[in-house]
Amino acid sequence: MTTDSQILTALRQADDGSVSGADLSQRLGISRAAIWARIDELRSLGYEIEASPHRGYRLLDSPDLLHADDLLARLGKTRVIGRDIRVFEETTSTNDVIDKLARDGVKEGVVVFAESQTKGRGRLGRRWISPARRGLWFSVLLRPALRPQEVTQLIVAAATALVRAIHLQTGLKPKIKWPNDILIHGKKAAGVLTELSAELDQVKQVILGIGLDVNLTASEFPPEVRKTATSLSLETGKKISRAALAAALLHELDADYTRIATGGFAALADEWECNCSTLGSEVIIGQGDRQMRGRAESLDDDGALLLRTEHGRLERIIGGDVTLVK
Ligand code: BTN
Repeated sequence: MTTDSQILTALRQADDGSVSGADLSQRLGISRAAIWARIDELRSLGYEIEASPHRGYRLLDSPDLLHADDLLARLGKTRVIGRDIRVFEETTSTNDVIDKLARDGVKEGVVVFAESQTKGRGRLGRRWISPARRGLWFSVLLRPALRPQEVTQLIVAAATALVRAIHLQTGLKPKIKWPNDILIHGKKAAGVLTELSAELDQVKQVILGIGLDVNLTASEFPPEVRKTATSLSLETGKKISRAALAAALLHELDADYTRIATGGFAALADEWECNCSTLGSEVIIGQGDRQMRGRAESLDDDGALLLRTEHGRLERIIGGDVTLVK
């Protein structure tokens, strides 16, 4: 943990809200002057830290920005996801940054956030608008011990983690639209883009890119999605702390990734099914030029959707675009 992470952790965990300079200096093994210099730097980033001669330092407020040290401090120790966090002010797409890091041999679990993306991309070649400081735009590098056909398990994990973290932080009750759109009151608030590289029977790496519309106003959505997209602040009427939400989300993702690695996918699939608005519905699945109509029945053991077609066959669907038939 960096010095700033340790300072922010100590300030957040302080029993009566305050920590003395002497205490911080002893815990971190650096001089009180060095602590003061770091506090000054944090203040210049927008952290409101009160300094009183009697009580010491007290964190009054945090700025609305993503700061790697702060995210690490909020998240604490994780097994894989989030043990390395990097934040960029602007990128093309965080999936591209992760791809480059992967080629440089960075360990799995690294997370890259961008405050804004100039070429954010969505599934099926769509663009993903990512205005500065309005959402969580981030990607995670994974090297799971999975066969390519089992990667759907990660998509299921991402969706359940999103549902839990959003509920914990906002009280909203999101629904999943297969495979991994997160809907609130029927409108899309988040999506997941999974980019895979694999051998015939073994996954080499997966880049899990997540876009979550946190504090966007209605006019910030492009006209073509304005009727179908929403943000957490539009749904709650409140501004949401992106840093707290990001830490909660990484915590849930790490927990779900651990469940998959330890044979707990069946329980995850049950949770997914409970939160899914697609199952039991009449749907049309678009796959390029091909369309299939039927009833979405359940998930199989690998997380694929089982569709009972209008001809009575059971089709195993691993990708595509779902439209609910009214
Ligand atoms: C979807 O179409 O629903 C998936 C959207 C995924 C968007 C995220 S934002 C972070 C990451 N970087 C990208 O370019 N895309 C994903």
